[in-house]
Amino acid sequence: DNMSIIGVPMDLGQSRRGVDMGPSALRYAGAIEKLQELKNDIHDLGDIAIARPDTANAVEASNLKNLKQVMEASEELASIVDQEIKKNRFPVIFGGDHSISIGSLAGIGRHYENLGVIWYDAHGDLNSSETSPSGNIHGMPLAVSLGIGHEKLTNLAGYAPKIKPENIVIIGARSLDPGEKELIREKGIKVYSMHEIDRLGMPNVMKESIDYLKGRTDGVHLSLDLDGLDPSEAPGVGTPVIGGVTYRESHLAMEMLAEAEILTSAEFVEVNPILDDKNKTAAVAVGLMGSLFGEKLK
Ligand code: ARG
Ligand code: MN
Ligand code: MN
Ligand code: MN
Repeated sequence: DNMSIIGVPMDLGQSRRGVDMGPSALRYAGAIEKLQELKNDIHDLGDIAIARPDTANAVEASNLKNLKQVMEASEELASIVDQEIKKNRFPVIFGGDHSISIGSLAGIGRHYENLGVIWYDAHGDLNSSETSPSGNIHGMPLAVSLGIGHEKLTNLAGYAPKIKPENIVIIGARSLDPGEKELIREKGIKVYSMHEIDRLGMPNVMKESIDYLKGRTDGVHLSLDLDGLDPSEAPGVGTPVIGGVTYRESHLAMEMLAEAEILTSAEFVEVNPILDDKNKTAAVAVGLMGSLFGEKLK
């Protein structure tokens, strides 16, 4: 084992303050201790520095809010992730809002011909500045990684695209914007929405997803947005959507990923302790890390 933890206290990819405290919330909930319990050789690299936000006026004027700051943080994260993979370490990234995935995938993508991505999320995060209803970059990282969006974001780390549409599996979707639905259709992206989870059950959804990715990818990144879970169980998120994946289904999903041994990197994003109920959501995330990294198999 050889794992690197990178905290990214980013809240400029969306409009609810407090998600910048996500890395602290995860650490307070015992994330590092949990990982140390399950894996050897954990390197906690601490948190990267995030720039100050734009003034209110600049924010209003743009449909890519805080573009410069998000770009800079993504560059920094991409280069750290790239270095850690070169040292043969498994990167685990703590968000921060979901815009940080632009950096994670930019750092990871270089190392794999066919990087698989499991996007565990209520949302598709497949908007561009043209289709985004909010101008919030946390609704765009999956599109950006496919090479769709502002070129300052898509060309980050000097190459594009970072991933291919056929190597993505979205799990837990229940809030997709019209432009995102169109992109999913056009690119043939595999989506297990709540409808499929209800119909097939989580065991089949995970089995299908794992089989699908196993056959076509040479590495798999898990991007887990805590709003994929139902807000009754994970209330500390900025964009909650009712009718989500349960706590138990999520643990099963993590356990099946642990058994399958397909993951090569992971991130936990959108934990906002200010909106939370006594750090419950961070505690849920740490529990999921336990299952993901083999608690049951120990
Ligand atoms: N689709 C909405 C938007 O683009 C919400 C995105 C929420 N994304 C997230 N990572 N929580 O603004
Ligand atoms: Mn080491
Ligand atoms: Mn998301
Ligand atoms: Mn989301």
